[in-house]
Amino acid sequence: MAEKFQNFIAGKWCEADSGERFENRNPANWDEVIGTFPKSGKSDVERAVKSARAAFRKWSLTPAPVRGEIMKRAGDLMVERKEEIAQLMTREMGKVIDETRGDTQEGIDTAFYAFGEGRRLFGHSVPSELPNKTQWSYRRPIGVAGIITPWNFPMAIPTWKIFPAILSGNTVVFKPASDTPATATKFIELLLEAGVPEDVLNIVHGGGSSVGTAIVEHPDIDLISFTGSSQVGRIINSKAGAGLKRVSLEMGGKNAQLVMNDANLELALDGVLWGAFGTTGQRCTATSRLIVQEDVHDEFVEMVIERAKQLKLGDGLDESVDVGPVINEGAREKIHKYVQIGQEEGATLKLGGNIADDGDLAKGWFYQPTIFSDVTPEMRIAKEEIFGPVLSILKVKDLQEGIEVMNNVEYGLSSSVYTQDINAAFEGIRDIDCGITYINGPTIGAECHMPFGGCKSTGNGHREGGWEVYEFYTETKTIYVDHSGRLQRAQIDNR
Ligand code: UN1
Repeated sequence: MAEKFQNFIAGKWCEADSGERFENRNPANWDEVIGTFPKSGKSDVERAVKSARAAFRKWSLTPAPVRGEIMKRAGDLMVERKEEIAQLMTREMGKVIDETRGDTQEGIDTAFYAFGEGRRLFGHSVPSELPNKTQWSYRRPIGVAGIITPWNFPMAIPTWKIFPAILSGNTVVFKPASDTPATATKFIELLLEAGVPEDVLNIVHGGGSSVGTAIVEHPDIDLISFTGSSQVGRIINSKAGAGLKRVSLEMGGKNAQLVMNDANLELALDGVLWGAFGTTGQRCTATSRLIVQEDVHDEFVEMVIERAKQLKLGDGLDESVDVGPVINEGAREKIHKYVQIGQEEGATLKLGGNIADDGDLAKGWFYQPTIFSDVTPEMRIAKEEIFGPVLSILKVKDLQEGIEVMNNVEYGLSSSVYTQDINAAFEGIRDIDCGITYINGPTIGAECHMPFGGCKSTGNGHREGGWEVYEFYTETKTIYVDHSGRLQRAQIDNR
């Protein structure tokens, strides 16, 4: 029997007002139902926001180091349950078990980072231009945060948003992706067990157009943090912008790995396989373009194909599997459509290019690892986000052309350069228009205590992770204390 999951609203586990439910199935075996979930709507969000608003003052007055200790306990519980969470996550969204362990570890790291941040949350203390006057700024919580997360990192991404939101003293209304509601619910259970007060957190399950829209349009939500497609991000930004909300958007990518003639090709090979086919290519940081300098191009393309051929597709719970299924039917159709577009555009299909449904794969959304060469910068498979196991290879003559090709997309999240030449590496660091650049490492692998995010259509200037995310979840207040005993006029009396 499939587990029956619930919403958590106003301190209680409950059904949706509609009384309806939706199913969540294993993408590696669609006969397996992971659970059923309440199909919520506007009125459920309404109750959640009301409760979160009422809880805000008390929580915001709880000292930040005390809030931090709860994050520490949550991290400890995640350590204890790491394997259990990873198993559920693999069943729920398909990526291989090593990666779901990694996803959970990213959540643990984020918890412990938040614990430490509870004793910092720095402001600034700076001198006044007038005598006997002291001034500083400090960071205050903002209010109710609406958190909308994707399915590809079902634990890590909710932790990136929810830990800093509550550590900073905000309360939360959380809508996880409807493809991964079980992992998200386990996370909320764990936070409650760690001691987050019941009314501080709400989880409301359901679709983007119902629950997501209700959150984004709710006048009593102050902050929105969203990770997902650029298309949805634009809509959220305009709706939330009209309500003058603070909005952090983390969206698409078309990340490239550039391999120069002097690169260590074995190292670059490990990097591109991990970057392109890890998480079945379903990371916003995934390597979807490989740009190779001409002298090593043919040799390196052959090396990549040889190794990619050996990748084993299958159920991610099997430790010997390298690549799991894609998330759902719609995703597989989209990927296959792009493969057809690539062929029509004249790229050379070197590997894969089809749905994989032999034997054990028959009941899952599997797609063959796919590689195109002879891709040119203007082709759609070189510019548009596919979000699947499809790698487009482009040839360039030198570093400058490599960087130009790299930048020739609307996105700017992650990038990578493989070279032994320190000057080339630094030129890449300076000229690549992305939020993240790796040297001699793949485009994936961000750490929670470093800022994460991108430029152009990838983001709207905010960052997750690192200190920067705490700036998003807090507002600065500036204080002036005049202890001179007389009126001192800034800009006037000191001139
Ligand atoms: C994402 O794909 O949305 O750097 C997040 C990485 C991971 C996070 C990816 N640590 O690939």
